[in-house]
Amino acid sequence: MQRVPAPFRIKMVEAVRETTLAQREQALRDAGYNPFQLRSDDVYVDLLTDSGTGAMSDRQWAALMQADESYAGSRSYFRLQEVVAQLFGYAYMVPTHQGRGAEHILFPCLVERARSERGATEPVFISNYHFDTTAAHVELAGARALNALTRRAFDTASLDPWKGNFDLEQVAHLIETHGPRNVAAIVTTVTCNSSGGQPVSLANMKAVYDLAHRYSIPVVIDSARFSENAYFIKAREDGFGDASIPEIVAHMYRYGDMLTMSAKKDAMVNIGGICCIREDRDLFEAVRARCVLMEGFVTYGGLAGRDLEAMATGLAEAVDEQLLAYRIAQVAHLHRRLDDAGVPVQRPCGGHAVFIDAARLLPHIPAEQFPALSLANAIYVAGGVRGVEIGSLLLGRDPKTGVQKASPFELLRLAIPRRTYTNDHMDYVADVIIDTQAQAAQLRGYAFEQEPPTLRHFLARFHPLH
Ligand code: F0G
Repeated sequence: MQRVPAPFRIKMVEAVRETTLAQREQALRDAGYNPFQLRSDDVYVDLLTDSGTGAMSDRQWAALMQADESYAGSRSYFRLQEVVAQLFGYAYMVPTHQGRGAEHILFPCLVERARSERGATEPVFISNYHFDTTAAHVELAGARALNALTRRAFDTASLDPWKGNFDLEQVAHLIETHGPRNVAAIVTTVTCNSSGGQPVSLANMKAVYDLAHRYSIPVVIDSARFSENAYFIKAREDGFGDASIPEIVAHMYRYGDMLTMSAKKDAMVNIGGICCIREDRDLFEAVRARCVLMEGFVTYGGLAGRDLEAMATGLAEAVDEQLLAYRIAQVAHLHRRLDDAGVPVQRPCGGHAVFIDAARLLPHIPAEQFPALSLANAIYVAGGVRGVEIGSLLLGRDPKTGVQKASPFELLRLAIPRRTYTNDHMDYVADVIIDTQAQAAQLRGYAFEQEPPTLRHFLARFHPLH
């Protein structure tokens, strides 16, 4: 792949501290061997998440100063509304404090609707793959979260270009077995975070939308990484090579009835989200009522006016093709260095992160001893690099039986914040991981010292096994 130089120069820097091996060993012990519990000052290159960790542009910072902090009817809200309507073509919008805020106000309305209008008794949501907090919000709304991801995504070595796609047969099967009236919504997650930031094709988005509409099931687009998905459509899908990113985005959103968005990813703000509805006024009224209660008045939704301004400018920058080309090339640079060195990674390279297949790298560590956590801790100790486990630890136990659920993946995610690190940092990370790979046979699994009952991966403490 050709080198894509950065389409920006750096105006402000933030110092990061290098630590000694002994300091990192101590920090990890103090953190109960859970990278979420580390202090960020003890991390050198932080690839825990690309959420809220990107660098804002000078234009975003300038927009902050022009914000209107009025409680109701803020000018900044109307500016955001205009940008959103232009990009996605949906009539109604409320801001929210982040993506899960949007889920929290929308999902109960969809469940209520399915119950009252379609006679749902056991509501479900079907997604290509629910993000963890998204699944938690589905459950909080009294429904079950079902995933129907293409099986090809589970083979990390294969080069399928659309590993975020729905398995259409499985979607049809789930609709039939649960009964269409019980399907409160279909959630199309672009890109599919959990399978490796892998894109969903327009053809697949359309097929799912058509299928849903045959049964009058609404489609929600979970839009955290919408522009990265559009970039992959341009690069990989027949007939879109000459389309602009905004044109592709407009096309994608024809295959949805509403959207939830964490603006902390592609929209490059440190905090913020939106919930939009294409045309259903009644649903919007119900969502607005919940917004006032849960997030804040409908023109600020839990955000300051300056956050709305930063988001409006960030959304416009998110669809800048040059920036996207550079962004994806940076992720691909790290991906290629690891792949060339024989580190087993999810292939092809995804949008926001490189995912290492810990089940393949550490076959001697069984899933219930969390191989990807072992790898995360090893690269932290080796070089102060923080990644996150996406596997059995994240998936958790069956709430009814208490048995560990069988995870289709044991992945270590290295999520790359936008405009934050240089390719020099990426080369450093690659060196650390390649060195760690050479010690793979010596790495050991982990057992719980303390296991919280829900969302355990954030707060659990572990001890290494010998
Ligand atoms: N949907 C997807 C696909 C996400 O990746 C996330 C967050 C959310 C919804 C929720 O958004 O955090 O703003 O409330 N993902 C982050 C991550 C946390 O690290 O991947 P939020």
